[in-house]
Amino acid sequence: MLVSDPNRILWDVLLREVRIAHEDHPELNAFCPFADDLGAQNVLPFRGPPADLFAAEQGLFSDIYPKVRDAFFVAGTVAQWRETYKDTDIGADFMDRFGCYCLIGEGGAFTSAKMAAWIVYMPAGLYYTWHQHPAEEMYLTLAGEATFMRDGCENNVLRAGGTSFHASNQPHAMQTHDHPVMAYVVWRNGFDSPPILTGGEVI
Ligand SMILES: [Fe+2]
Repeated sequence: MLVSDPNRILWDVLLREVRIAHEDHPELNAFCPFADDLGAQNVLPFRGPPADLFAAEQGLFSDIYPKVRDAFFVAGTVAQWRETYKDTDIGADFMDRFGCYCLIGEGGAFTSAKMAAWIVYMPAGLYYTWHQHPAEEMYLTLAGEATFMRDGCENNVLRAGGTSFHASNQPHAMQTHDHPVMAYVVWRNGFDSPPILTGGEVI
């Protein structure tokens, strides 16, 4: 369905900035070329506590991606924020503080059969427990800082420009400490299956 969404300009600006960041990053571009089959779809806005935290966030420093960070902030006011783990036992605190909205894919402003893309936001001092999914995934840290954990690998502390690759069904987790984090997340292959929690130790 083609649309006359008054927020379309926000999404188009965000898409332009994301495309530049994506195509300029060799690892991300090698993981998944930016979609060449994009369609447009309406976004039904949905806000929750993480959207309000995100809107008030002051700690997302970024020496590489200030423009794409700011475009995600603007679109965050009209996005459909996800409640990925609503029906799990992950807990109310996590649900209230873990932020995610889609850019390309279900609930996002764009469609593609080749990739899905989200923004993930975590405030300081939040633990995102171990989870996995069939899709292969790459995180590109846009702002702030977080520790990325992958089953079988050393932990990585990433800032803007750092990536974390997660193979199909490879358990992974995240932790923020003194800073919040904003990351651009791309999935390829098998993105019809949502993540499932796998549990594991808290670092
Ligand atoms: Fe993941």
